[in-house]
Formats: sequence, C-alpha cells, structure tokens
Amino acid sequence: MSLLTDKKILLGITGSIAAYKVADWVRALRREGCQVTVVMTEAACRFISPLTMAALSGNPVHTGMFSAEAPETIPHISLAKEHDLLLIAPASAQTIARLAHGLADNLLATIALASSGPILVCPAMNSVMFQHPATQANLAIIRSYGYQVIEPDCGKMACGDEGPGRLTEWENARQAILTAFAPQDLADEQVLITAGPTRESFDPVRFLSNPSTGKMGYALAATARQRGATVTLISGPTGLTAPPGVRCIHVTTAVEMQAQVMACLEATTIVVKAAAVSDYRPAEPQPHKVKKGEAALSLPLVANPDILKELGKRKRDSAKFPLLIGFAAESRDHLTEGARKLQEKNLDLIVVNDIGGTEETGFGADTNRVTLLDRNGAQEDVPLLSKEETAHRIWDAVARLIDG
Ligand SMILES: Cc1cc2nc3c(=O)[nH]c(=O)nc-3n(C[C@H](O)[C@H](O)[C@H](O)COP(=O)(O)O)c2cc1C
Repeated sequence: MSLLTDKKILLGITGSIAAYKVADWVRALRREGCQVTVVMTEAACRFISPLTMAALSGNPVHTGMFSAEAPETIPHISLAKEHDLLLIAPASAQTIARLAHGLADNLLATIALASSGPILVCPAMNSVMFQHPATQANLAIIRSYGYQVIEPDCGKMACGDEGPGRLTEWENARQAILTAFAPQDLADEQVLITAGPTRESFDPVRFLSNPSTGKMGYALAATARQRGATVTLISGPTGLTAPPGVRCIHVTTAVEMQAQVMACLEATTIVVKAAAVSDYRPAEPQPHKVKKGEAALSLPLVANPDILKELGKRKRDSAKFPLLIGFAAESRDHLTEGARKLQEKNLDLIVVNDIGGTEETGFGADTNRVTLLDRNGAQEDVPLLSKEETAHRIWDAVARLIDG
C-alpha cells in the first residue's frame, strides 16, 4: 500500500522536449498503485508516441476533443470528472498561456477548464522563455486560480542554454501530488524535527556513531510539509536529500545538535526528536590521526547532553512550550521502557520502536512497526507500514493532541 494507492491521476503532456521524462513518472505512479490516464496535445505527440504512453499507463491515450471511437461521450467532461487530480507535465509556455486565458481550443485545456479538482502544473521550457514577463504573468494568473505551479529546476537545457526551466525532478512532483491529497491540519504549526545519527570523533578519521539512516525523521519532515507545516529539519550525517520545501540544518555531533535545537526552539510549536543521538563522546578527541599501535586499548568517554530530557525539563517550567514528541528505539521491554521515557522526559507522545524485531523495522529499513503512547494514557499499535505512512499515523496522533 502507498499513500497514492487507487488515486486516479490524469496526466496532461504538452509539446516540450522534456516529454520523454514523464514516461518514467507514469511508471512511478503505477508502482504506487495509481490509475493513470494520459492526455496528449498534438505537439506532445511529435515528441513521444501515444503508443508508449498507452503501454506504460495501461490505458488508452486521449489526443483529440472529438473522439471518433466513442462519439456519444463528451471526453473533456467525463475525463475531468473521473479523476482525482490533473497533473500537467511538462507544461509548455503555450499551454500555460492557454490555461491563463481560459482558452478551450484543445482537449487538455478544455479538461482543465472543466475540472473542479486539484491541478498541478510543471513548466518546462528554455530559460529565456520561462523568464519572459508574458510567461511569468501567465504563471501568476494560473496560481491565482488555485493551480499549483511546481517550479522548474535550474541547469543546462537541451538547447545548451543554462538557467531555470528544466522539468522538475519526479520526487518534487510526487511531494506536490501527496500534498494535494493530504489534510492541511498542520498549516498553523512550526515543526522542528531532528533526524539521523550523530558522530563523535576521537581523531580526524574515526568516530563513534550508530546505524541510524535518518529515514524516519526525513519521512516525518516530508509528511509534515505535505500537511501544511513550516518545517525545520536538524540532521546528523545521512545520505538523504532534504524533502522539498523543508529547511535543513546539517550538524555532526550531539553538542552541535543541541545548540541548533535550542536556537530554533523559540519559533517552534512542535518538536519531534527522531535523531539517534550518541549518548557518549570520546573524552579526549585527538587533533591528529592516532597511528596504529599507538592508541590506548580503552577509550575514555563523557556523557553527551540528553537533549530530549532537557526539553522535557524546560517544558515543566513553561506554560507555552511546544508539543514534545520523542522516540524510543528499544531491543527489549520496549513498551515498559517507552512508558518510562514518556513520564521521565515529560513528553506529550512517544513513538516506541521495537528494534529487536525483524529486518522490516528499525534502522535503515523502509518500513516500520511502532506503538504510540501519549500523555493521556492512549496507546495505538501501528501495523507494519512504510516509514512515510507511519509518519502520517504519528501526525494523526499529534493532530488529535492539538485538538485536545
Ligand atoms: C524541438 C522543440 C522543442 C521544444 N521544446 C519546448 C519546451 O521545452 N517548452 C515549450 O514551452 N515549448 C517547446 N517547444 C515549442 C512547443 O512545442 C510549441 O510552442 C507548441 O505549440 C506547444 O503546443 P502545446 O502546448 O499545445 O503542446 C519546442 C519545439 C520544438 C520544435
């Protein structure tokens, strides 16, 4: 199951050199369980064959307003009604102008006029065309209609020019689609999330750390953004890219993470501590690489700050403190340990993660199975789900706490 399972997406392709790229988008949407129907303009058919799009989408491709196969149907009305979302990608300057001025001179533009659902537009064109005042004015007009414009990327174009105008990457389009379907229940929230491991060096090439990959924290950041929150992510070293629209602050050590969390706290309404912070650091880090054979065989350590505990303590002293959500990764007695941490660290909610289970849960996995315990004594066992879906379940619980 994916968050997009069974969603009906109408994909409008227009006459841009980037048309070939959305063939992969169709495959990605279908992998997530979407039903995809493709509409192509006459110009689009010169760039990529409708046969390719029919084979990839598993559905007939619509290219003309006046359907010869089924003259009794009114395709622009039925297609507009039968879909949950219209995605126009790549959107040419010509099609954007049509949309802005309400023209209905081809099937795609007419469907857009007849649609009452969400419309996402992914412009793709030469950067001079994109920056032209006419195109920018047209984009402003379609935004005023409530269409969501996904900014193109900057970079080298097929024509050799460089600048803004490249079709956005699939991940950005995917996040925008998910946002269109997500409840906007965090729209008033300023969310601060920590993610990933910390690294505690004992010389320039060696450190203490843990296997956290940051996937759960990044999924929380992406989904909070989808639900309308303003999100700051404080991340230890991971191989992940910050989700679109999320401000990311990179740190390495627990002490750096603590400093950044405290600096961001003032402007925050919800704190989620999903990072796996090292409990200890080497007492005497060495400025130069310790040569083989020269190291002592035991490593003196000092305790790192317990950031969550410190936040919980501050929360006791302040009536207007952000909601505080913690994680407990436990390999035994996970529920007892979780309940103890909830109390001891003065949390509003704890996400308890049994890392002693199978490979499907915990560090590095794409899925998770967690139990949520809240300050009111409620317990929710969340089944095995993708980390993205698990993150939405956590936000559902947070939204219930906000509602009181
Ligand atoms: C090789 C080639 C590449 C083109 N690439 C683009 C493009 O990336 N973006 C764009 O707006 N127009 C591009 N055009 C121009 C459009 O195809 C043209 O404006 C067409 O009328 C768009 O029609 P449509 O919006 O109905 O699909 C290109 C034209 C050619 C010949």
